[in-house]
Amino acid sequence: MKTAICYYSRHHGNTRKVLEAMAGEGEVDLIDVTTRQTVRLEEYDCIGFASGIYFGKFQTSVLQFAQQYLPERKNVFFVSTYGMLSPGYTKTIKQIAEEKHCLVLGEFGCKGFDTYGPFKLVGGIAKGHPDAQDLEKARMFYQEIQAQ
Ligand SMILES: Cc1cc2nc3c(=O)[nH]c(=O)nc-3n(C[C@H](O)[C@H](O)[C@H](O)COP(=O)(O)O)c2cc1C
Repeated sequence: MKTAICYYSRHHGNTRKVLEAMAGEGEVDLIDVTTRQTVRLEEYDCIGFASGIYFGKFQTSVLQFAQQYLPERKNVFFVSTYGMLSPGYTKTIKQIAEEKHCLVLGEFGCKGFDTYGPFKLVGGIAKGHPDAQDLEKARMFYQEIQAQ
C-alpha cells in the first residue's frame, strides 16, 4: 500500500517525529505542504493529513492543501499533536474529506511539546512529548491503517 502523508510541523517538529515513526512501518511519502508546490495524490492508495494543532485546528496550509489536492473518494486518515487535548481539533479537515466523499480510516493524536505564548513562561507544557510510548502507539496506528 502506497501512502502519502501531507503535513505541517513547525513549532518543535513534534508532528514530524510521529510521522517518521509511522513511515518506518511501510511505503510512506512524507510531503511537507509548505515546500511542495504541486503533488499527484491520485497515485496513492491512502492519504494522511497531519499537523500540530494551531488555534484549535490543523494549520491553515494543510487545510488549503487538502482542499486543493485531495482527490475524490480516497481513503484518508488524520494525525495531530497538541499541547492539550480538546474536542474538535480534526473537525475542519474531516469536513473537507467528507465533502470529497473520502472514507476516513482513523485518527491518531498525541501530546507535543508546546511553548506557545504564556506556556513559555513555565517552560512549556507536554514536555518530552512525543515520547517513546507515543511513537509506539503511532506505529501501531499506522499498522492498523495498513491492515484495513
Ligand atoms: C501558534 C500556536 C498555536 C497553538 N494552538 C494550540 C491549540 O489551540 N491547542 C493545543 O492543544 N495546542 C496548541 N499549540 C501547541 C501545538 O499544537 C503543539 O506544540 C504541537 O505539537 C506542535 O506541532 P509541531 O511541532 O509539529 O508544529 C499551539 C502552538 C502554537 C505555536
